[in-house]
Amino acid sequence: MASLSRDLIEAGLGWQYRAERIRALMNDSDTATLVARDHRVIGFAIMSFHDEHAHLVLMAVRPSEQRRGIARRMVVWLVESAITAGIASIHLELRARNEAAYAFYRALGFAETLRLPGYYLGRETAIRMLRLLRAPNVVVPAWRPPTRDAR
Ligand SMILES: CC(C)(COP(=O)(O)OP(=O)(O)OC[C@H]1O[C@@H](n2cnc3c(N)ncnc32)[C@H](O)[C@@H]1OP(=O)(O)O)[C@@H](O)C(=O)NCCC(=O)NCCS
Repeated sequence: MASLSRDLIEAGLGWQYRAERIRALMNDSDTATLVARDHRVIGFAIMSFHDEHAHLVLMAVRPSEQRRGIARRMVVWLVESAITAGIASIHLELRARNEAAYAFYRALGFAETLRLPGYYLGRETAIRMLRLLRAPNVVVPAWRPPTRDAR
């Protein structure tokens, strides 16, 4: 998984997700790690669960195995798990130049929310995307006109 991240996700950005970091994520009880495999790892996805939202941290499928629906199956599994866990939204960031991943996430129901110039090493733009699963638990206080004391 670490070498897939280095070669397919982080190429040209240094290598943040080395084996120790992946292992820590796998051991984190709030993080789900999915692996697609035959005799070797052909794809993987890692998603962290928080109180109201989940963050899709990493996902990749070997080039020789792409366009076979492997990533779609992993995301569908993660979305179903998030719905079961009561999560309101799934968030992720990707490199703005990664047109394949952008098309993939759009196809899976994610929408672009923000572009963050310089997010990667101060030189590459990130696109933030979101998939809403339910309305967030926001308690909006009823509006009251300001009192004389508050002015
Ligand atoms: C993005 C990625 C994970 C998609 O994996 P995949 O297993 O090939 O995706 P799927 O086969 O499940 O594709 C599902 C749908 O997404 C869309 N899609 C996937 N790859 C696409 C591409 N290269 N161009 C356009 N649309 C694409 C299509 O709608 C596709 O459905 P279809 O094949 O029926 O047309 C894979 O391209 C990858 O590993 N890329 C390198 C790493 C990466 O960019 N990771 C994500 C950022 S962290």
